[in-house]
Order: sequence, then structure tokens, then C-alpha cells
Amino acid sequence: MSRLAILGGDPVRTRLFPAYQTMGAEEMAAVRRVMESGNLSQYLGAWHEDFMGGPEVRRLEEAWAAHFGVPHALAVNSATSGLFAAVGACGAGPGDEVIVSPYTMSASAIAAAVYGAVPVFADIDPESFCLSAATIAPKLTPRTKAIIVVHIFGGPADMDAILALARPRGIKVIEDCAQAPGALYRGRPVGGLGDLGVFSLNYHKHIHTGEGGVVTTRDPELAERVSLIRNHGEVVVGPKGREDLAGLVGYNYRLTELQAAIAVEQLGKLPGLVEERIRNVEFLAARLAGLPGLRPVVPGGPDRHVFYVHPVHYDSAALGVARNVFVDALKKELPSARLRETTPLIGAGYVKPLYLQPFYQKRLHPCVFNCPRYAGRVDYSLGSCPVVERMHFENLVTHEFMRPGMTADDLEDVARAFEKVVAARRELGSTA
Ligand SMILES: Cc1ncc(COP(=O)(O)O)c(C=O)c1O
Repeated sequence: MSRLAILGGDPVRTRLFPAYQTMGAEEMAAVRRVMESGNLSQYLGAWHEDFMGGPEVRRLEEAWAAHFGVPHALAVNSATSGLFAAVGACGAGPGDEVIVSPYTMSASAIAAAVYGAVPVFADIDPESFCLSAATIAPKLTPRTKAIIVVHIFGGPADMDAILALARPRGIKVIEDCAQAPGALYRGRPVGGLGDLGVFSLNYHKHIHTGEGGVVTTRDPELAERVSLIRNHGEVVVGPKGREDLAGLVGYNYRLTELQAAIAVEQLGKLPGLVEERIRNVEFLAARLAGLPGLRPVVPGGPDRHVFYVHPVHYDSAALGVARNVFVDALKKELPSARLRETTPLIGAGYVKPLYLQPFYQKRLHPCVFNCPRYAGRVDYSLGSCPVVERMHFENLVTHEFMRPGMTADDLEDVARAFEKVVAARRELGSTA
């Protein structure tokens, strides 16, 4: 075996990996159909038959609802918009708290702040990386209005236990399914378990339309509120006869007809794309599981993980190498480790725990942190969620080499890179 690439040896691979490309003839035909119709968006921000959008948006919503087994699906122009609309539909506002995971994309938590509610971070479970009933329970207060559960990396949170906490207290549960379309919790699709589900169709996701999102719910009242928030609801509540919702503020969260038409085709491809991810993880996990110090998450068990990224537990004591040193060495073995020019495929952890961002550390936002209606005290200090900090700074490696389009040879190179760095760890100073 050659010397490690980080020390000047030959890397395992220099060739680029295949791009992740899910667009095909079906999407081209759908775009052409919409272009030829000339009708790129049919929304009207008034109480009118076009208030709910045009034929492609409605077709997407029907297809999405059927696919995920929910009565209501509402297309929006991003998951961020969907999260904002979901929090707004729950009625969270100044003085309220919304419990959320610190290990997620920033929009999951800022959705609460946008409405003047205070994001309260509960720790993650070390196996699922999601919120759990055990981590949420100590954060519940009389002010808790909603919980935003993120099915992070594509693996479902333990929803039954979380709902058992929330339901008797009248707390709404929003599922952030941006990374988990097609994931199953005890056989049931995520997005239909809590009060509202939010999916993303952005460029990085399993299926995409460039930008886009979908909100799901079983509750017709919540569906109506989301539809109002999506499309300038304040001018619609009067003509619609919903003056009890006169305080509701609407936005423009409308998805275009073009994107909706693409989304229908993408949705049809989702099951196959998820299967391929799972097969690729099965191969990689089997190879990595044989190595000391690495414990990859494996498919199987009562739930279905859809592997937006593949998490691998890292034990620095077993390997005698700090996690970041290991990841740097691994990256050098796969120096062209990109499926897209901008996407790093190997990560030391995921995103920094959200409460460590300046927005939470400095607490400058006057309507959230200095709201006279807020009677609580929120803790964003370093150490406040020890599991997420341990995972992020020491014990988690993530990678995206399981994306569809990878060949057996590509996967073999990835496995060999991990094997090489583990085998040559003494070159990195390990005595283990
Ligand atoms: C967990 C999670 N929530 C929300 C979002 C926001 O999605 P969008 O880019 O569609 O607004 C993302 C996007 O990366 C995400 O990963």
C-alpha cells in the first residue's frame, strides 16, 4: 500500500465521480408542455378559483398526497417557505417557544423566530441524530407551542414517543422531511405522522425542481391556513368568510407551473432513487463495518432510512487519530471527491449546532429575544446540548458517496480509501 496521499503518496483515486443527475426525457417533456401552454404560473392572490394555483400545481399536490398517504399536500417554493407557513399555521408567536433540533439546516429553527417565537434547542439522540422524547421532555414549558422534528440525514425520529409527549399537551408537531422523502417510520411515511410535514425540492435533495417544497397535513384547518399564508392570505380571509383569521399574514410562497410539472416526474423516480441509495449504503457499510473505529449506520430495522447523507460513527480512541485528521486524510485519497463542483462529499460532522451561530449567541433580534411577552429564559450556551456537540466536533463522519449514479468501481474506490487510511493510521501518529 502506498503512503497516505496527505503525506505525499499516491491517492486511491483522481478521477471525478459521476454527477448526480435525475433529470431526463420525462422532465424535458413536462417543461416543454408547460412552455407551450404559455402558462408558467396560474396563481391569483385573491379569493378566486386560481387562488390555489394552476393545473400543474394541483396535479403535483394530488400526486404528492397520494404518494405519501395524506389528504392534503400544498406546493410551496421552498422547504424554508413551507416551514415558515407551517409554524404560522400553528399560530406560534411572541411569548411562545418552539422546540427544535440544533442539528439541522438553519431554516428549521429560524422558522420559529420569523413569527417572534423563541427557538429552544433540545439535544439529539446519539443513534438517530434526531430529537427524541427523552431530550424534548426537559425542555417543555407552558410556553411550548410547537416542536419541529427533523428527520435528519434521511432517518426518521422516534415519532410515536414524541407524539405521546406532545398530543396531551396540545403541542403541534411539525416534521421537517427535507432530507427524508420516502423514509418510513414503523412502516408509515414521514410527513403524515405529526400535524404538518415539510419537504424540500431544492437542487441538493433526493428529487428536485431547482427550488421548491411541499407541505403535508391531515388537518383541513391547517391546510387552509397554509394555503392562505402561501398566497397573500390577508386579502383573502374576508372574501372567503374567514375573518376569524384576520390577523394572518400572507406571503408569496407559490411554486411555478414549470417546477410543479418537473416535480411530478421527479416524484415518480423517488422510489427507485431511494432503493439505489440503500443498495449503495449496504455495500459501503459492509466494508466500513469491518474496520476498527468506524460504525456506519446500516439500512434495515423497523424504519426505512433514505440516506440523504450516510452517517458513520467515529471512535478516535480506537483509531488513535482525531476525527478531523482522519477526514482530512480521507479527502486527500479521493481528491476529486465531488459529484458537483460545489459539494464536498465527506464531512467532519454536519453543520455547527445552530445555537452556536451568532443569531442565537448575540440575541440581537428585538422581536424574539427582547419581547415583553416572553417570560422564559433560554439557554444557548456551549455545553447546553452535549450529544450534538460531541457528534459534531468529534464522533461523526458524514459522506454522500451513496448517491445514485455511482458504479461498482466508484464504490470500490471509496471503500478502499477508508481502508487505506485506517490501515495506515500510524503514518498519522496513531499508536492504536
Ligand atoms: C433539514 C432541512 N430543512 C430545511 C431545509 C430548507 O430547504 P429549502 O432549501 O428547500 O428551503 C433544508 C435544506 O437544505 C434541510 O436540509
